[in-house]
Amino acid sequence: MCGIVCYIGKKPEKILIEKLKRLEYRGYDSAGIAVKSDKGFDIFKAKGEIKNLESKVKEIDNSYLGIGHTRWATHGKPDEANAHPHISTDKKWVIVHNGIIENYSSLRDKLIGFGYEFYSETDTEIIAKLLQYYDNGNALETIRQTISVLKGSFALGIMKQDVDGIFFAKSKSPLFISKNEENVMVASDIICFKNFGDTFYQLSDGVFGFASSKKIEFYDKFGSVNIKEEKLDLNEMDDENKYEHFMLKEIYETKPAIKNISEFYSKQRLLEIFENLNVKNIRKIKLVGCGTAYHAALMGADMIEKATDIDCEVVVASEFRYSEPRIGEDTIVILISQSGETADTLAAFELAKQKGAITIGIINIEYSALAKKVDYLLPIKAGVEVAVASTKAYSAQLLVLYLLSQALGNKVKNSEIDLSTVKTLINDFDYGTTKELQDLAEYLRYNDKLFMIGRGKDYFTALEASLKIKETSYINSDTYYAGELKHGFLALIEEDTFVIVFATDKKLIDKTISNAEEARARGAKIILFTPFDIDKGITDKFFKVFKVKKTDDRLQCIENITMWQLIAYYISVNKGINPDKPRNLAKSVTVE
Ligand code: G6P
Repeated sequence: MCGIVCYIGKKPEKILIEKLKRLEYRGYDSAGIAVKSDKGFDIFKAKGEIKNLESKVKEIDNSYLGIGHTRWATHGKPDEANAHPHISTDKKWVIVHNGIIENYSSLRDKLIGFGYEFYSETDTEIIAKLLQYYDNGNALETIRQTISVLKGSFALGIMKQDVDGIFFAKSKSPLFISKNEENVMVASDIICFKNFGDTFYQLSDGVFGFASSKKIEFYDKFGSVNIKEEKLDLNEMDDENKYEHFMLKEIYETKPAIKNISEFYSKQRLLEIFENLNVKNIRKIKLVGCGTAYHAALMGADMIEKATDIDCEVVVASEFRYSEPRIGEDTIVILISQSGETADTLAAFELAKQKGAITIGIINIEYSALAKKVDYLLPIKAGVEVAVASTKAYSAQLLVLYLLSQALGNKVKNSEIDLSTVKTLINDFDYGTTKELQDLAEYLRYNDKLFMIGRGKDYFTALEASLKIKETSYINSDTYYAGELKHGFLALIEEDTFVIVFATDKKLIDKTISNAEEARARGAKIILFTPFDIDKGITDKFFKVFKVKKTDDRLQCIENITMWQLIAYYISVNKGINPDKPRNLAKSVTVE
């Protein structure tokens, strides 16, 4: 959600566009750059995709530094006036900002009182105006004063008319810096540093500073600070794509991700990670996440409860803080996040920590804020995920949650860690038959509503399958517990309504099929999704029986979802939608 990149070096206009394209995955609806040359600032902005900006940007003689931004609209619609960079009234300060300034309205009123006029609806513009207001000739001091009155989150890239360098500041939104000889890059994600630097600095909250071709300085409110230079791990950053879309590439990276996980987590490693964890006093476990990560949490709670006999509860991250959770030293809070930067999940972590709970992070981006903070980090080893709709990361989260359930089960009940299931999954793993998936997608694409039903873990799979279809195809896909049909849902069934029935648990299949029959009797077209052979008498009544490969019950959920990710992908493509960038959505949700 919003991304910034700043560059010190020749032809920044070219580099900024190239790097903004790397930040596209975060989600955005307008973009802009400001470039400094010996003639001053040139600013270019465009609504929509980066290519619109690219077509407007002119080559600038002797340009040597610049700042760029992708904006996901929060305050004010996505248009050129609201797009970043923003500039102070005296035209001396130009800034880009990722985050939200929560007290912007009162600051704006104050500045209006001092005679300042505003040209945009954004919270960001007040920062440009504040820099002018506090300007005392010492730029770093001006920045220190400005950020001290801001409440909320910000990663800032700032240029000043009479200074040859970039100022930066960070609080609660990610920001990284890398250098390569005399060139410097400041960015929201280290993915921008690919083919640029070998090392990077990760800024902590409250840090601000200055970078030029000669030096990089870091400060906090007490004075100068040192930040450790870290090595850039290029293997983690494979964002090249030979497939038509990233979503397809990433679904097909599920099996490699499963293999990575199984190579990374041996029995010995799982024992070592939790060696110092005292589980004797643990009375409850809470699992927290947003979107797809929340669905993984639902599945994980089931796995962990069964393995440990400890009560597990799943809470959506945006609700966690406000639910006044009764947690303390007797609680483990498991935070699940692909990006490790989701604002609500980070806030849930802060509360858990404040209350003394033990925190475990199931995270993909190992350099993310959350990954650096949790007591126990379990990386999911899925590699870079670019498409907004999460696919391989979800499956990797499920597998790591399973491993966590085994490790905790071992600590609590002294039970054996069972990794044979993972081997079976790798051997069994099957993406299905493309033609069959495409045919089903073709049937489903013409519906403006779809229903999915299931019991137990199948219900959780249905939730995630439904989310994928909503995100990438804009079909109103709704999910119900199969046993709840008679309590309201049946009223929605009309002749030829598609109902997709998830029945992959042997214990529950007969009951679920009875529910499917109830819907069929009222005109529904049933698609039964199951790994089991079904009597012809039943299959004849259904629109389609769709088979999935059977694996160990505990990891069947991974087999199940992969096919629905592919179906969602094909529906999206058949409808002419770009599945990698669904409308209105962002991959990295860094605001509440
Ligand atoms: C957004 C993304 C989803 C993701 C969710 C949580 O909504 O579009 O794909 O599941 O955020 O993100 P996280 O990075 O915390 O897993």
